[in-house]
Amino acid sequence: MELNRRTVIAGAAAAGVAAATTVGGTAHASGSGGRGKPVRTLFGRLADGTRVHSWSLENGGTRMRVLSYGGIVQSLEVPDRRGRYANVSLGFDALEDYVASSPYFGALIGRYGNRIGKGRFTLDGTVHQLSVNDGENSLHGGARGFDKRVWDVEPFTRGSDVGLRLHHTSVDGEMGYPGTLRATVTYTLTRDGDWRIDYEATTDKATVVNLTSHVYWNLAGESSGSVHDHELSLAASRYTPVDAGLIPTGELARVAGTPFDFRRAKPVGRDIRTPHQQVLYGQGFDHNWVLDKGVTARPEHAATLRDPSSGRTLRIATTEPGLQFYSGNFLDGTLVGTGGRVYRQGDGLCLETQHFPDSPNRPSFPSTVLRPGRTYRTTTIHSFGV
Ligand code: GLA
Repeated sequence: MELNRRTVIAGAAAAGVAAATTVGGTAHASGSGGRGKPVRTLFGRLADGTRVHSWSLENGGTRMRVLSYGGIVQSLEVPDRRGRYANVSLGFDALEDYVASSPYFGALIGRYGNRIGKGRFTLDGTVHQLSVNDGENSLHGGARGFDKRVWDVEPFTRGSDVGLRLHHTSVDGEMGYPGTLRATVTYTLTRDGDWRIDYEATTDKATVVNLTSHVYWNLAGESSGSVHDHELSLAASRYTPVDAGLIPTGELARVAGTPFDFRRAKPVGRDIRTPHQQVLYGQGFDHNWVLDKGVTARPEHAATLRDPSSGRTLRIATTEPGLQFYSGNFLDGTLVGTGGRVYRQGDGLCLETQHFPDSPNRPSFPSTVLRPGRTYRTTTIHSFGV
C-alpha cells in the first residue's frame, strides 16, 4: 500500500523528524511539503564563459535541483518511510565534472535517445550520417547531444503546480540530423510530489526525434551502494534483443523464461549474473522493453521500482511504447558523486521511457519520424511513495 505523500510529510513533521539535508553544499528548508517559486542560483561557467544556473524546486514533499546545462536533474530528494530525505539520483557537485565525464547523469537526451546503428538512416530517400560516438553507432544524439547544451529555462507556478519550461533550438544539420528542431521540455512538480515531464518538438524539415531523461535512480540514496536489492517490475511481455553493439536485431522476443522477465517484481540483481547471451552483451541489463500498452494518448503504467530498505517507491507512467532499463553497467569506479563517494557498477539504474532504439532503420518499430506542421508530444510521470 502506498501512503499519500502529503500524509507522510505531515507525519514526519509531527514526529519531529529532522528532514533537512544538504545537497551541493546548500541546505534545503526542512520538509514542510511546501511549494515555492523556483529559485535560481549560479552553478558555474562553461569554458567560453556561458553561465550555467541551478534551479531549486519543491512541491508535495519532492525537492529537485535542475541545471540549465543539459536540463540535468542534479538532485532529487524524497522522504523514506520515516520521513527522512535522501537524494535518490546520481550526479556531481561541480559543472566541470558534468562537462568532462558524465555518463548522462540526470540529463535530457536528444535528438535521439539510445542508439542508431552505424549512426545512419534514410528518410524520404536521403541518407543522413549522424555524429558517431559509441563504436560505429550514434548514442544519445551524438557527440554533443541535448545533454551538453545550455537550455533557456523559464520558471512557472500554475495552480498547485510548480515547474520549469526548458527550451532548446537544435539547428538544421546539428549532429547530422535534418531540420531545425525546436524542443520544449516541461518539468512539473505536482502537489502530490510527482515529477512530470512533457516533451514537445516541432521541425521545419522531416526528421527523427526520440527524447528522454537519463536519471540514475538509487532509492536508498545516491552513494549508498548497489541497487541490486531494489525490486523492479516492468509492464512488458517482450523486449528488443540486441547485437554485440547493442543495436536491436529487429526481433520482439518474449521475456517469459528469461532474465528479462520483470512482469512480477523481482530484485534487479537476481538474474544479472545469468550467462544469457543478451545479459553478456549488455554487461547486465541495457535493453529496451516493449511496453504491453504500446503508444498511448495518456501516460499509462510502465514500471515500479522499490527499495525494501528505505521503503521508497517510484512508479513510472508514460505515453511512450518502450523503456530502456539500464542497470548502471558502465559505472566503473572512476567517478566521484555528489556524496563524495565513488560510483561503482550497479550503484544506480536508469528507466528511460522512449521509442525503440534504431527505429529510423526499423520500419516495423513505431515511427520516430516528425514532419513539419506536426508536434512531437510525449509525457512521462514519476510518482514517489513509500
Ligand atoms: C544508455 C545506454 C547505455 C549507456 C548509458 C550511458 O542507457 O543504453 O548503453 O550508454 O546510456 O552510459
